Amino acid sequence: MDVVAERSEVERILEDPAYVVPEADAASNGPGDRFRASASRFVNGATHAARRHRLDVLLAGIDVDELSLDAAARTRAMLPAAIDEIAAQVPVACLAARLGFADPDAAPAWVAALAAHYPTGGPSSSADAAATRLIAAADDVRGGLDGDLDGDAELRVQLLVQAHAATAGLIAAAVRLPAARDGGVPTADLLAAVLRDALPVRQTKRLAPDGEVLVLRLDGADHGSPHDPRTLAFGAGPRACPAVRHAIAIATAVVDEVRAC
Ligand code: HEM
Repeated sequence: MDVVAERSEVERILEDPAYVVPEADAASNGPGDRFRASASRFVNGATHAARRHRLDVLLAGIDVDELSLDAAARTRAMLPAAIDEIAAQVPVACLAARLGFADPDAAPAWVAALAAHYPTGGPSSSADAAATRLIAAADDVRGGLDGDLDGDAELRVQLLVQAHAATAGLIAAAVRLPAARDGGVPTADLLAAVLRDALPVRQTKRLAPDGEVLVLRLDGADHGSPHDPRTLAFGAGPRACPAVRHAIAIATAVVDEVRAC
């Protein structure tokens, strides 16, 4: 497995459709693996483009101001809990509420179980139970969003799974920066520092046209433009994170509340 670290080369590969993602097994039977095969993350070509479009529609239906207010309220309700607990609970719960899930407060624990299985797949009774539970909770409630939610249960679960560790990592790292104790430093600067120096998602994988698996470092050096470094914290190209605004809105609200406490 080759590792590519030079940032401009990683960006070039991420933007090149000839480099694809390793695909999930579409014939798998377990609910956890079936969920993986229904997500956008492990399919290529036209199937990826269609699912990605639906994700963009679902995300566009979320009012980011409401999301942010909900994240702040949920954080206040949990304080003075430990930051890792807040970071694991609030982002997923506030997204689940906006995405029309039944019982949004219960979603984070199930999402954590499913997220542990998500990168690799394979037999897992805890992932199977979590996938079954979350898809039922997504199917249970209609409304709350613009547009037709039918058939989107798996994609709405995917949004929670993708949000889970990355958003929690950003929040916890920002709160732990020494500068977070200085009230004069804006929360936006703390988040930017984490996204520049301590990325929550450090690497991803692609298959090269010759079938070789490449590990792509998102936190590598950028020797081409030292004065204006690109950031690959949210990826690049057609599979870049579609939820940057949502991630930043949630993280800003949570970190603001924790710092004010
Ligand atoms: C700090 C928080 C976040 C970071 C750093 C982050 C980072 C990333 C990165 C690097 C990728 C690309 C992976 C690749 O190219 O292989 C990605 C994809 C994705 N992210 Fe995020 N993400 C964050 C939060 C979120 C949130 C809050 C959501 C949902 C509300 C989300 C949804 C997604 C989805 C659905 C994809 C897959 C897109 C596709 O298959 O086309 N992310 N994210």
